[in-house]
Amino acid sequence: KKVVLAYSGGLDTSAIIPWLKETYDNCEIVAFCADVGQGEEELQGLEAKALASGASECHIVDLKEAFVEEYIYPTIATGAIYEGTYLLGTSMARPIIAKAQVEVARKVGADALCHGCTGKGNDQVRFEGCFAALAPDLKVIAPWREWEMVSREDLLAYLAERDIPTTASATKIYSRDANAWHISHEGGELEDPWNEPSKQVWTMTVDPQDAPDAPAYVTLKVENCRITQVNGQAMNPYQALMTLNEIAAAHGVGRIDITENRLVGMKSRGCYETPGGTVMYAGLRAIEELVLDKSSREWREQIAARMAHLVYDGRWFTPLCESLLAASESLAALVNGEVVVKLYKGQATAVKKRSPNSLYSEAFATFGEDDVYDQKHAEGFIRLYSLASRIRALNEK
Ligand code: ARG
Ligand code: SIN
Repeated sequence: KKVVLAYSGGLDTSAIIPWLKETYDNCEIVAFCADVGQGEEELQGLEAKALASGASECHIVDLKEAFVEEYIYPTIATGAIYEGTYLLGTSMARPIIAKAQVEVARKVGADALCHGCTGKGNDQVRFEGCFAALAPDLKVIAPWREWEMVSREDLLAYLAERDIPTTASATKIYSRDANAWHISHEGGELEDPWNEPSKQVWTMTVDPQDAPDAPAYVTLKVENCRITQVNGQAMNPYQALMTLNEIAAAHGVGRIDITENRLVGMKSRGCYETPGGTVMYAGLRAIEELVLDKSSREWREQIAARMAHLVYDGRWFTPLCESLLAASESLAALVNGEVVVKLYKGQATAVKKRSPNSLYSEAFATFGEDDVYDQKHAEGFIRLYSLASRIRALNEK
């Protein structure tokens, strides 16, 4: 019996290792950790920690570039934003982590997968939804839905009884999830929506109140709805995101505070920081405004609305998702150009934009005199366009 555990080095997954051994017949535990850009701090000393807790091996897989290239960029090209504001940072990371975990399970010949998500959240559904699509034969173990422990104190006591060292403390205020795209914060005082998030909630961005008084301008080159240059420098997708994270964080860009509908039915309150991503969205939308005609744009918005739910709900590995991504790419091929985004005290605004595919024509749009558009043509258009309304109104008389 061999289990691959999605391991973070935190208190929960540290307790899971001995618990699995005791509950599942002294099984062998392979710790697995995906590096999706959560930062050095979380990864440092991880292997030693996993072994000290009783794992037989620890696999750390670097997924940073693949995460940005194969999951983030395709998703933002669709325009997916959950419930109007959430840029899906945690949701997008789950499928790539689940896939890598399955690959480790195959490599070591495991017969089960285990995760440390609670039974109240979205993440359990996302992981297990992906496992179902990729490895239906593997058993899934979700300790939070099985064991009797309910608090950090319980977990600490459990480890202490077994002489397993931990640096975790009884008080940890927030539940956070970080990757290259974002960090999420839930719990603590945020559980009461009548509480303003305190300063200590935010970890990635400067408070907009303390941001510089002078704005920053960032020039983005966009090809196929991807950022390929930042301020004239060619960058791969991961570098571009890192660069924008740094610049935008300093200007307090990318904070949101929302109450969202979880997949399991409850509402939850979360604060999210997505500095670089917010700048990317502002830039890409501005180019789209230039190049997509009315019905293409409307279709793109439908794709976005559908994708937001698919990604949030853990349905990445489905034919529908594949189909929407393909549709999105054919519009993304038009999204080329250059845009300047202004960052100022928490705001990211696209202030200049141009594109070789632009449909915008000053000659047509001008409020001044023009010789390309005959205003008389509008009269016949409006009469036919509103014909049904006219007939209905006449009938009612
Ligand atoms: N509510 C967000 C989402 O469902 C963030 C979840 C954070 N996950 C976590 N394990 N802390 O995508
Ligand atoms: C969890 O419950 O494990 C985190 C929150 C979520 O998945 O929504």
